[in-house]
Amino acid sequence: MSRYLITSALPYINGVKHLGNLVGSMLPADAFARFQRARGHEILFVCATDEHGTPAELAAHEAGLPVDEYCAKMHLLQKDLGDRFALSFDHFGRSHSAQNHEITQHFYHQLDQHGLLEERTTRQVYSIDDKRFLPDRYVVGTCPHCGYERARGDQCENCTRVLDPADLIKPRSAVSGSTNLELRDSKHLFLRQSQMVSRLREWIDSKKDWPVLVTSIARKWLDEGLKDRSITRDLTWGIPVAYQGNVRPGFEGKVFYVWFDAPIEYVGATMEWAEASNGNWKRWWRQDAGGADVRYVQFMGKDNVPFHTVGFPVTLFGSQEPWKVVDYIKGLNWMNYYGGKFSTSGSRGIFMDQALELLPADYWRWYLLANAPESDDSNFTWEHFQATINHELADVFGNFVNRIAKFCGARMGGVIPEGGSYGALEAETTSALERRLAELTRLMEAMEFRKSAIELRSMWVIGNEYLQKAEPWMKIKTDAVSAGVAIRYSLNLAMVFAALAQPFIPHASARIAQAIGGKDGSLAWPAQIADSLSPGARIAVPDVLFAKIEPEQLTAWTQRFGGAAS
Ligand code: 2FM
Ligand code: ZN
Repeated sequence: MSRYLITSALPYINGVKHLGNLVGSMLPADAFARFQRARGHEILFVCATDEHGTPAELAAHEAGLPVDEYCAKMHLLQKDLGDRFALSFDHFGRSHSAQNHEITQHFYHQLDQHGLLEERTTRQVYSIDDKRFLPDRYVVGTCPHCGYERARGDQCENCTRVLDPADLIKPRSAVSGSTNLELRDSKHLFLRQSQMVSRLREWIDSKKDWPVLVTSIARKWLDEGLKDRSITRDLTWGIPVAYQGNVRPGFEGKVFYVWFDAPIEYVGATMEWAEASNGNWKRWWRQDAGGADVRYVQFMGKDNVPFHTVGFPVTLFGSQEPWKVVDYIKGLNWMNYYGGKFSTSGSRGIFMDQALELLPADYWRWYLLANAPESDDSNFTWEHFQATINHELADVFGNFVNRIAKFCGARMGGVIPEGGSYGALEAETTSALERRLAELTRLMEAMEFRKSAIELRSMWVIGNEYLQKAEPWMKIKTDAVSAGVAIRYSLNLAMVFAALAQPFIPHASARIAQAIGGKDGSLAWPAQIADSLSPGARIAVPDVLFAKIEPEQLTAWTQRFGGAAS
């Protein structure tokens, strides 16, 4: 048994997340956590809301709430949506937690002790009309590298380069659009990342199995010459620049930069989990307390890669303490909505709460994972969504399970048939499925969810082909024993399929396991295609597992959310 620490990039607190966010980190992380749990490994899967920074402040202001109340409320909302999407976090924490305050200030102290922090007076953008300093991302303008006109002052989302607001051409305030900006002096703490370039390069070079998407982004940063980064901001909402209750002189009214404390919340959330469940967080995070045996996998969208291959590792290495560092980063591209970006600020696309108003979580989970933006960006359209659900879930998987369960219920008294034995057709089907199973297991280990979904669907197709050939509904007229053999074999296959489908469609899997196998809780990942049901036991017939999406629904949803024409 191995131990896996799995983290998903932390969703920002400022609003319900859209499906692009979901498939960009939380959902694939969940699929992997479920897979590894089913394999029998010990898993700790944590995530949290990312609660600091100006976006939180502005969103709270817009909602007419004090920022702490706003964050508490939005955290509960996001947690509930995560639960309803069956995201199986062991803990879903808050970057504003007391634990994260403590551990962030600990890292600050360690970095300071080791000479990795430097006070510098910076010229900060001050918006005269907004009467406030503008954080980097609230200064927008044209990217000097690629010419993108809506680049933010911290990073260009078009070319992913890290920017300084002063780099932008024609800067303006993102709060008000005002160009009435000036530079004012402000003292900040800089993390001396430049000291650590060779250590980081050596570390990245050692990661031979990492996706090129991830290593190429990391190398681009290192090759461009890593600049020291300011880790403090002129804001009131956030973690104070203090240690053991003492604010650093000259840093009153300042807090740590959200990108400093957010990844530290992976540790903070583990501490929260430990407190809530009497666990041992050091066993996961400290090499000197058991963490050396842990495999740590992070999931994130490509825009987050720089902060996880440079920023956070500098904090961990720089502390000169034996912290666990990530072993594998699964970076994802974007899922687009009709060729354009899903956007929280532009309310474009489908949000997690809206999705669940339309259909249960499994429909979305299957579509998103089967079209995960892994090797490239992928594209959501309602037409493609309908086709995927109808052809893959309803016609192939749902049909297989519902057909045999109904038949067993109607013609065999709901009892798993006894007698007779498997013949050549079953042997042939089993060996075809076993080849697929080996490949599916390999792909899931490799976190290739899109290809895994193809493999799983092929197994469902093989199940249907078996039924076509075995024809229990014909055989029952002349040879009840052979019909019983076919139904027994198929019901056992349904249990295998339910186990293999858990990472993708856990609710449907649980319903099948309960109805056909009388089993609660998760199923073990099968090592081979084998029977698990006892002949003579009773089954229940599950309700239709997946309903087809009808043309009227497609029309209504396209109109509501905007489709090709919008
Ligand atoms: O990009 C984002 O949505 C960030 N909130 C991700 C933070 S990941 C981690 F470092 F906390
Ligand atoms: Zn750019």
